[in-house]
Amino acid sequence: NLIDPFDFIIFGATGDLTMRKLLPAFLRRFHAGEFTQDARIICIARSAHTPDKFRQQVRQALKEFAADTAKDTTLLDQFLSIVTYVALDATKPDSNWDELKDALKDQARTRVYYLATAPALYAPLCAALAEHKLITRATRVVLEKPIGVSLKTATQINDGVGRFFPEESIYRIDHYLGKEGVQNLLALRFANPALEKLWSSDAIAHVQITAAETVGVGSRGAYYDESGAMRDMVQNHLLQVLCMLAMDDPASLSADDLRNEKLKVLNALRPMTPDMVRQNVIRGQYTAGRIENKDVPGYAEDLGHDRATNTETFVAIRTKIRTSRWGNTPFYLRTGKRMAAKTTEIVLQFRPQVWPIFTNTPSPGRLVIRIAPDEGLSLVLASKDPGAGGFRVRNAALNMSYENQFTMEYQDSYERLLLDAVRGNPALFIRRDEVEASWRWVEPILSSWRQGLSPLEPYPAGSWGPASTRALLARDGAMWHEDM
Ligand code: BG6
Repeated sequence: NLIDPFDFIIFGATGDLTMRKLLPAFLRRFHAGEFTQDARIICIARSAHTPDKFRQQVRQALKEFAADTAKDTTLLDQFLSIVTYVALDATKPDSNWDELKDALKDQARTRVYYLATAPALYAPLCAALAEHKLITRATRVVLEKPIGVSLKTATQINDGVGRFFPEESIYRIDHYLGKEGVQNLLALRFANPALEKLWSSDAIAHVQITAAETVGVGSRGAYYDESGAMRDMVQNHLLQVLCMLAMDDPASLSADDLRNEKLKVLNALRPMTPDMVRQNVIRGQYTAGRIENKDVPGYAEDLGHDRATNTETFVAIRTKIRTSRWGNTPFYLRTGKRMAAKTTEIVLQFRPQVWPIFTNTPSPGRLVIRIAPDEGLSLVLASKDPGAGGFRVRNAALNMSYENQFTMEYQDSYERLLLDAVRGNPALFIRRDEVEASWRWVEPILSSWRQGLSPLEPYPAGSWGPASTRALLARDGAMWHEDM
């Protein structure tokens, strides 16, 4: 179904995100025929490019980041003809606003502003848009994460943006919600009543959520060193995945029903006292090591510093959800840069047998949900070992991979979410109260860290994090997936 003509305006358009994710996503959806050349993508940044020079840059980026689609040069040319560039310093009232106003003359079209700038600029930008009368009734604004660096700054940003846009026009993006595997959690749980019966502390001994990356901080050192893994990944992506995994069934798939249920999970997370932070949270930073047979430098060197800063590139957390459904199930979250593998996955470990009757004691079964790469499920169950004498059992897996099961190509997360924003479907975006509830839970951890209560533990690049990460689970008699 074809989308009506729209204007999509990206602030901060010369950045990494626009070139790597946003424009490639639009190109692919254009290729899929979801919109026509009537749409316009207006890219805004301070640099004094001409539109032609900017389009050349975009062409290069698309050849790199959407290589397959960009091979069709006719299509690529058609797409580039709807991309334009306006050089504008949005913090300056006397900057080039007239050109933007001119480009946005048609007030009836759907208009989406995408703010891919520093979050501190979100509110001033919205104020400037209002001042220049560039907000129509059909205007939405998309805010990239992170929304602020603390509860206070997040609230200020939300208040600031909220002065110019009603909440239903504010789309806070978390690209993890655009991932097929994360959305599939809804189907897996609520379209399979039999599975949902197992979905509680009665059957689940613990849950692991891992988002491990092999890359380092790359060219984003300046941002990352201010942010750290907690603000970059945990406060948003990991907590959102946790919500999708742990929430009760929503009355419908409407934006508010979904978000109400997610919010309940965030509010039910056990708040951390400084003592609990010491015992349940690990913060690490990578040192030099080897990944995929290549030597890689440590964090300080990646930043170009002589000495390491105090920023964490790894976090592992043990937490609980204070509900009758989940109260007896620890949830372990971990994320890090320069780890042994690029993997985003969830493991639900089933409870062991209460009374052993077999020759050996099998390790309890589990359900593994792979979000990336190789999206799919693996259900590990105990099975009689046909080769062994007596009545020995061992684990065997039922595997489902999306690639084999569904032949059609599916959209990457930005494709899905950008066009949801254009269509006006907010279900996979984050509501204000969710952002603030996430910060409320994260904040005591950050503040304990500031008081120096959790030392920064080194881990060699290419490992699964600091040594103490294993002990965090061993305490509960559990182990991480790679050790199972
Ligand atoms: C981003 C973080 O939000 O997510 C990055 O800022 C991180 O630091 C990225 O690399 C991970 O996303 P994905 O989709 O590759 O798991």
